[in-house]
Amino acid sequence: MKKLWGGRFTKSAEEWVDEFGASISFDKELVLEDIEGSMAHVAMLSKTGIITEDEAEKIKTGLQQLKGKAAKDELAYSVKLEDIHLNLESHLTELTGPVGGKLHTARSRNDQVATDMHLYLRKQVKLIVELIQEMQEELVTQAEKNVETIMPGYTHLQRAQPISFGHHLMAYFWMLERDKERFSESLKRINLSPLGAGALAGTTFPIDREYTAELLGFEGIYENSLDAVSDRDFILEFLSSSSILMMHLSRLSEEFILWSSQEFQFIELDDSFATGSSIMPQKKNPDMAELIRGKTGRVYGNLMGLLTVLKGLPLAYNKDMQEDKEGMFDTVKTVTGSLKIFAGMIRTMKVKTEQMEKATKNDFSNATELADYLSDKGIPFREAHEIVGKLVLVCVQKGCFLGDLPLEEFKNAHSLFEEDIYQVLDPYTAVKRRNSAGGTGFKQVSIAIEKAKESLGAT
Ligand code: ARG
Repeated sequence: MKKLWGGRFTKSAEEWVDEFGASISFDKELVLEDIEGSMAHVAMLSKTGIITEDEAEKIKTGLQQLKGKAAKDELAYSVKLEDIHLNLESHLTELTGPVGGKLHTARSRNDQVATDMHLYLRKQVKLIVELIQEMQEELVTQAEKNVETIMPGYTHLQRAQPISFGHHLMAYFWMLERDKERFSESLKRINLSPLGAGALAGTTFPIDREYTAELLGFEGIYENSLDAVSDRDFILEFLSSSSILMMHLSRLSEEFILWSSQEFQFIELDDSFATGSSIMPQKKNPDMAELIRGKTGRVYGNLMGLLTVLKGLPLAYNKDMQEDKEGMFDTVKTVTGSLKIFAGMIRTMKVKTEQMEKATKNDFSNATELADYLSDKGIPFREAHEIVGKLVLVCVQKGCFLGDLPLEEFKNAHSLFEEDIYQVLDPYTAVKRRNSAGGTGFKQVSIAIEKAKESLGAT
């Protein structure tokens, strides 16, 4: 097969060399974007009189046919033709005859590939924003059912203070809210047109970049042709936002894994999101949560990979930049998959309310209540802390919890303790009373849920 740049060459590369250099095995993913970009380009070429209307019509018809075939996955690709751009051009020329060769007037694969990727990411980022929103909706629904479900809250993975399970879930809602914002805001930088930058320097033809930008729905054009073909910041930004999002999903995965263990038994994942063991009949493994935690690594890897590819590149296009694609595709697949799985896991999981509550009873996570009780009565908090610390020690020695101590024991520790401490020690009361803004008190959690719903409705 003759190369499209055959003129300059006296011999062709061997097949294995072609294979090493080719990107068609993965950039075929951009087929529809490439056709869309070409459609705008050809419309511009005829509008500006660079080619005739008749020529443009023939090319458009050819492109339409290719689009139909691409949608049905009926296009054959050849490694010899290196990438999606050259493969499509060759198909087009087959369909239209030599006029197809005019499509590439005033264009280079360098501005072409950049355009494709802008179109691709714009679409994917919008989809990701929707998927984040769907996961947020599931979080809110579960949170709403569990405003008054109490559980131990942890620091250092040691029981700290009792909290509302709804409050815990809502923490992730707000993380996702920031993620959604990050992706949405990045659209501004994705939605710019590099088309018309040519190979690196612009072109002698009287092109109209604003027109192609408008046809493609871009908000503006790159101001500098060198920057237009060399910029991959928009992909880096996507990979960064994805890394932060995956870090959040990975933390929630870790919690789901812990909570569904025999040690915690706070939730049970639905059978449809768990797997068994080939040898141990009793097993029910939280594979999907583990996989999401694991896949977070590949997304970070994709970010580090592209940062490293770009760091030493002189302007403008370098073939190194072909390495920008696989990590981007892989990240899109990983992020969209993880978000869908999470929405399903959250929707179908069983919350073991009683287990959670039971856990709050058998620990010292109500010790702060006792210290607050004394400081409420005028004892400096530091002193109160010391007194309660000693009471905890008494319990540890006796093998009981604070609520099991007789009033006499409290009185010995400090005379200001009264009968009402038992009420104060109750974890449910403890949660309910933490009514400061953004706190775990039931009223606050309900307010937060209302705010969350409002913000979901607004996007
Ligand atoms: N396949 C190439 C890539 O993905 C397209 C651009 C090639 N341009 C060039 N001058 N070799 O980066």
